[in-house]
Amino acid sequence: MKKEDLAALLKDMSLEEKIHQLLQLGGQFYAEDTVVTGPMKEQGFTEKCIGEAGSIIGVMGAEKIKEIQKTYMEKQPHHIPALFMLDVINGLRTIFPIPLAQGATFEPKLSERCASIAAKESAVSGVHVTFAPMVDVVRDARWGRVMESPGEDTLLNSKFAEAMVRGFQGESVAEEYKVAACIKHFAAYGAPDGGREYNTVELSDHTLYESYLPPYKAGIDAGSELVMTSFNTINGIPASGNRKLMRQILREEMEFDGVLISDYAAIEELIYHGYAADRREAAKRGIEAGVDIDMMTGVYISQLGELVKSGEVKEELIDEAVLRILQLKNKLGLFENPYKDANAEKETKYILCQEHREAAREMAAKSFVLLKNNGVLPLKKEGQKIAFIGPYAEEKNLHGAWSFLGDSKDTITIRQAAEEVFAANQVTFAKGCPILEEDIKLEGFGEYKDEIYSQKEKENWLTQAIEQAKEADVVVLAIGEHRLQTGESACRADICVPKNQLKLFRKIKEVNQNIIVVLFNGRPLDLRELETHAAAVLEVWFPGTEGGHAIIDVLTGNTNPSGKLSMSFPYCTGQVPVHYNEFSTGRPHVPGRDKDRFRSKYLDIPNAPLYPFGYGLSYTEFTCGPIQLDGNQLNQQGSIKACVLLKNIGKAAGTEVVQLYIQDVSGSVVRPVKELKDFQKVTLIPGEEREVSFTISEKDLRFYREDMTFGSEPGLFRVYIGTDSNTENQAEFTL
Ligand code: BGC
Repeated sequence: MKKEDLAALLKDMSLEEKIHQLLQLGGQFYAEDTVVTGPMKEQGFTEKCIGEAGSIIGVMGAEKIKEIQKTYMEKQPHHIPALFMLDVINGLRTIFPIPLAQGATFEPKLSERCASIAAKESAVSGVHVTFAPMVDVVRDARWGRVMESPGEDTLLNSKFAEAMVRGFQGESVAEEYKVAACIKHFAAYGAPDGGREYNTVELSDHTLYESYLPPYKAGIDAGSELVMTSFNTINGIPASGNRKLMRQILREEMEFDGVLISDYAAIEELIYHGYAADRREAAKRGIEAGVDIDMMTGVYISQLGELVKSGEVKEELIDEAVLRILQLKNKLGLFENPYKDANAEKETKYILCQEHREAAREMAAKSFVLLKNNGVLPLKKEGQKIAFIGPYAEEKNLHGAWSFLGDSKDTITIRQAAEEVFAANQVTFAKGCPILEEDIKLEGFGEYKDEIYSQKEKENWLTQAIEQAKEADVVVLAIGEHRLQTGESACRADICVPKNQLKLFRKIKEVNQNIIVVLFNGRPLDLRELETHAAAVLEVWFPGTEGGHAIIDVLTGNTNPSGKLSMSFPYCTGQVPVHYNEFSTGRPHVPGRDKDRFRSKYLDIPNAPLYPFGYGLSYTEFTCGPIQLDGNQLNQQGSIKACVLLKNIGKAAGTEVVQLYIQDVSGSVVRPVKELKDFQKVTLIPGEEREVSFTISEKDLRFYREDMTFGSEPGLFRVYIGTDSNTENQAEFTL
């Protein structure tokens, strides 16, 4: 539809019809037998507004969506199509590793490809918009949603934001098999006090602008059609009614002109925050902040009409919001083809097809991080007896908390994959214990049932596991968090491996010293015991549909692990939030001088995390030579080349992530001890060496200065190049 036609359409719509465009309702409202009663009525939902709601969340399936769209458009006064939106986070039915694991690949291009596969499966299923990517910077592992973010680093998250938006949207959302992306959660949702869900966020402007906003901006610059508000207050004002945040920062400074959608019921929650006295005020705050869509509450539809009539809200505010929604529908081509790519035959053809599974397998294997290895890995394919033990040895749901459309029956388990590779007399399998103790209850979400086992059953599992461990040369112990201990509203005050599984570990250790822990989790955990007592630890996160294959690929050395942590693993819970790019403080702790009392340190634990950002081992060994700079004076227009010689001195081909960090030694505001500025993934065969070079220019040195202008300041800079954020390999230059 042409621009003028959209404007004419808007002009022709009644106020009520326009306000209905701002409503998003759940698919349950479109079941054939929906009758508006009880709580639905109290929300202000009427049959009319259900029939005219501008967008629908949570429906999928080509036939179903087509049917709803057809009936909907017949009733809609101007036959405007509805938008269908869904949370497609790490895949629709072909499930990829959780986003935190994707961050560990340090390969945004791969996430771009996986997002484009997810877009294809979604598009043929009738979906128009995905609520992804989530790019909140996350530093507190207690927060359950860290699994949904690429990690703790601003640059890394920005690169993943761009890549995923490109993957979902392609060049334009009008293209075949593309869906619109939605950057979330704006803003700073990843910094809740105490790591507790939905909690208050207090950030200085410097930290907000420098560390938290850039990934959203990167996604917006990549063309994300939507942005979602966050649930939290930020410096005292809830994001979803925060005019400065939305009008000034998002719209003016970041130049976002797409659709801004509230998070689930967040407009109504302005009341519970204590920022609006009632629904009327909540609607006014929301629309004045420029929030276009009210997700799942009746606040806008029940209040905005009156507010406009009484003159308290200008009709132009409604018009601008509706126009943005119509423009999105138009960009998707829905006025010409309201079903876009929805096609049942293509659903059968593409969903979980071989190509998609292969991409899921590759990404999963690349996301695994080898945290420890005393030489027991890789496994030998012959001549070794291996006991696969633990609640994840045969677990089928390896999808993570957000993949509620992923179906366990499609998943390759560790056992299935192991049986493809090893002779039957070489391997045994035992559960050992359930994932959780029975007294831990998780709320149902997607596929979930309480698992209740008798004492006898559990004793038998343990006995069988111990017997098998005794007989085996090595034990692969597949343990970890329950997937519902992670994700939204799944915060933990003690971030440990479930205690019953640690007990299993100890029991097995009594009879077999060669324990390779394969760890499933959605957040950094306190791994001290495993680090001390396991022979090897392989972090596999929640790896998705092809998890089993990928795990066996890596355990056997078919794929050499190359993942690097995108979030620091703390020494213990009391150390969080912990991140590599901290400030130095006026009394920095000097490693090794633990007896110096008046220093910024703990009495009982080290300052350093157990495993730092950027860390991950390989089956081969790399050396990274000293940094060569082609000059040590950088001027405003010029650049400096920083090179290292990377060498594979081990016995296997492998891939290393070479990381460039810079420290601005002094500034008008204090600067982090190190900041990631670039990285490269390099694959070398044994004995091979390669020069890896980075170009540093003045642009890389910019930051928000004391007066909040963005720019660099002359002075001394330290460059670090190495294979994790602890690297001491450094050189200096001045600007
Ligand atoms: C989450 C969002 C999600 C939305 C819709 C909310 O609870 O915070 O991330 O997109 O629900 O499902």
